[in-house]
Amino acid sequence: MKPTNSPKTYRVKSFGCQMNVYDGERMAEMLGERGIVPAPEGEDADLVVLNTCHIREKAAEKVYSDIGRLTKGKTQDKAPMIAVAGCVAQAEGEEIMARAPAVSMVVGPQAYHRLPEMLDKAVQGERATDTDMPAIAKFAALPERKRTNPASFLTVQEGCDKFCTYCVVPYTRGAEISRPYGDLVTEARKLVDAGAKEITLLGQNVSAWSGEDDKGHAVGLAGLIRDLAKVDGLARIRYTTSHPADMDDDLIAAHGEIDKLMPFLHLPVQAGSDRVLKAMNRSHTAESYLRLLERFRAARPDLALSGDFIVGFPGETDAEFEETLKLVDAVGYAQAFSFKYSPRPGTPAASMEGQVAKEVMDDRLQRLQAALNRDQWAFNRATEGRTCEVLVERKGKHPGQWLGKTPWLQSAWFEGDVGIGDLVQVELVEAGPNSLAGRLRERVAA
Ligand code: 5AD
Ligand code: SF4
Repeated sequence: MKPTNSPKTYRVKSFGCQMNVYDGERMAEMLGERGIVPAPEGEDADLVVLNTCHIREKAAEKVYSDIGRLTKGKTQDKAPMIAVAGCVAQAEGEEIMARAPAVSMVVGPQAYHRLPEMLDKAVQGERATDTDMPAIAKFAALPERKRTNPASFLTVQEGCDKFCTYCVVPYTRGAEISRPYGDLVTEARKLVDAGAKEITLLGQNVSAWSGEDDKGHAVGLAGLIRDLAKVDGLARIRYTTSHPADMDDDLIAAHGEIDKLMPFLHLPVQAGSDRVLKAMNRSHTAESYLRLLERFRAARPDLALSGDFIVGFPGETDAEFEETLKLVDAVGYAQAFSFKYSPRPGTPAASMEGQVAKEVMDDRLQRLQAALNRDQWAFNRATEGRTCEVLVERKGKHPGQWLGKTPWLQSAWFEGDVGIGDLVQVELVEAGPNSLAGRLRERVAA
């Protein structure tokens, strides 16, 4: 590669989960520290970071087609500098370097704090790959949080030791690691100073977070939430994603005791058949999952539930799929994500017998999503007529219209004299399948 001018503008494109959104923000902050600014809307950027996701199929193909689109018909001096980050970078870094000469940098999710050094090399015409997994060193090397959204993310835990047989995360994000308590309290305070009203604590297995508080006592996620709730100016706390195996009594109790902890729980179940769950190496049964939800609901009766589902896991029969539908009926989710099983290279399930035909998966996904959509709309309708607090997150499509989130993570839109970051009381007037129309009642706080 030829040496090139230092990039002046950047664009970070994040795919996949909220952890990637967080990482994307942190990479943007680092580029900002170097004086590189976001490319104006509609204009090409000098540097494009593709922050990729590897969880389901076609992830790598998408990266190559994005690279193709960015470089099509352009000579090297006209094409943007490209960095591939995220989980595809971790899993297929060397291949990307070999197949895509237009890529200058490949950087894994545990190594992106080294992006500035890699950028220096790239400007000299040197391509660089860094997919090391140093235990959590990254966070200490990142710049301080200076700007953020009213609803912000805070990564508290990374990695996974659960080894569900379909999942690539233990390989791309490594072993479970918790960030230290003190760092998290400090970062949360910084986020609030920068304008955050809500913080969602993130982790692939967020409920496995553990640490030591400032008195040296061992604390779990509930303890961390209790202490973050004391941060002045922070109005709302959420966390995601949890694994049923790590949900302890203290966390359940926290839902009943801490007002700032929002009444929402994302707890993936994946399937309703115990045989399938066992083959997935999930540690719960349908029954134990339902019992766990009952305990959460006892602590917080208005808790909204969310989940993840996979249809067509190898060997899943029609009857076993029906058990997933039965479980959905039993729970009544407020929202959920559902996916067709996608064999991930290197995972145990990819080589299991009984891979399910695509048409069968399509049909199952359609039926599952119909049931989930029905329940989501029913949940929204059940909140019609209620007045609740909404955090204003952005402008709506029409002038004077605003969009925010209810405590149950529903999108609500309404008109009125408010601003982004305001907490307002909104009456939920009319429920749609994906959002609610509301009427502004009063401002709560600026
Ligand atoms: N195929 C389909 N869906 C998957 N997920 C994880 N791995 C796979 C896979 N191989 C889904 C799970 C998980 C969510 C983040 O993505 O439902 O909870
Ligand atoms: Fe995708 Fe998982 Fe990586 Fe998130 S951690 S970006 S869901 S592969």
